[in-house]
Amino acid sequence: MPPLILGIETSCDETAAAVLEQGGRILSSVVASQLETHGKYGGVVPELASREHLRAIVPVVRECMAKAGVDWQQLAAIAVTEGPGLTGALLVGLTYAKSLSMATGLPLIAVNHLEGHIHAAVMEAAPALPALALVVSGGHTHLFEVREGWQYRLLGRTRDDAAGEAFDKVAKLLGFGYPGGPLIDALAPYGHAHVFAGEFTVPRIKGASQDYSFSGWKTAVLRWTEARDLAAETAARKALFAKRPRATLEELLAATPQPTLDLLASFQHAVVTELLRRATRAAEQMDAQSMIVSGGVACNSELRRAASQLRVGYPVYFPEAKLSTDNAVMIAAAAFPKLARRDFAPLTLRPQASLQLAQ
Ligand code: KG4
Ligand code: ZN
Repeated sequence: MPPLILGIETSCDETAAAVLEQGGRILSSVVASQLETHGKYGGVVPELASREHLRAIVPVVRECMAKAGVDWQQLAAIAVTEGPGLTGALLVGLTYAKSLSMATGLPLIAVNHLEGHIHAAVMEAAPALPALALVVSGGHTHLFEVREGWQYRLLGRTRDDAAGEAFDKVAKLLGFGYPGGPLIDALAPYGHAHVFAGEFTVPRIKGASQDYSFSGWKTAVLRWTEARDLAAETAARKALFAKRPRATLEELLAATPQPTLDLLASFQHAVVTELLRRATRAAEQMDAQSMIVSGGVACNSELRRAASQLRVGYPVYFPEAKLSTDNAVMIAAAAFPKLARRDFAPLTLRPQASLQLAQ
């Protein structure tokens, strides 16, 4: 029987646990989202995240084990996110994983959250290497070269905001709820991306860098709002989100006039184009045999469509939508190569808020 790993993820605002079989069969996956808690603050509040993880971790792992229908002796290891992420949030998952390891005698495997995202895209696939990986989430926008044996080299990263963060901040500026990415994704098809394309000129980055920069486009949206009288419109949307965290698409459309829809479409189109422009250029330079696009923003419909229509000679891999945002399946998936190498973590393992995957 192929080995099983219990994965635990608590780096940000999802408490997640999963049991995964080597080869990609998911026996169970439980994700307790804290959206309701953080939504009203327009972003993740670290102290509240730790408290919610503390509340959720035991029931989430218990439910995950019950759904998988396995007992502890059937597991090969316990994998946990070591970083990067919020220290207090990481600490909850890590401490619980260490306690479980101590109590069951199972080895502990430390996983980098970004490596987890990369593995979510290639669960059952064996991508041809070297691969170019674009990890694009709320906290990260990184380009990595992935080599044989899951070795990584950092090719580029954002110099300021992550792409998901830019989605979230733009949405917040316009009075939409949190997280902004899925809302903009849902509304952008009702706007015309050419209308305000001129607001989103590609930032010039000195040198031959493969880095991204998104903060200028957030400022462009701020200036766009300042040049118009949007107070009533923005207030109406804020009221909509305050009243009901989950506004329906119809309500959102009714509260979003055409120019704002056009702005959202133009912004999203600019972000997607820029993400893929630098990713394909980096892939070309390293002679990539495949491309992996992962992280929360990999849910974005326009990004998925544009990436799958790229005229490149290599395959492009995406995670399934439910494995794009934070989950524990990806943490268990990234742990299997480490299990094979017996790359186990000591019980002195500590959270590493700014852990790097590669230099
Ligand atoms: O990977 P993730 O769940 O957490 C981090 O590790 O950051 O990513 C969350 C980010 C948020 O910024 C959210 O707005 C963005 O992913 N996101 C999206 C979409 N779904 C989630 N951005 C654009 N379009 C989406 N459909
Ligand atoms: Zn993530």
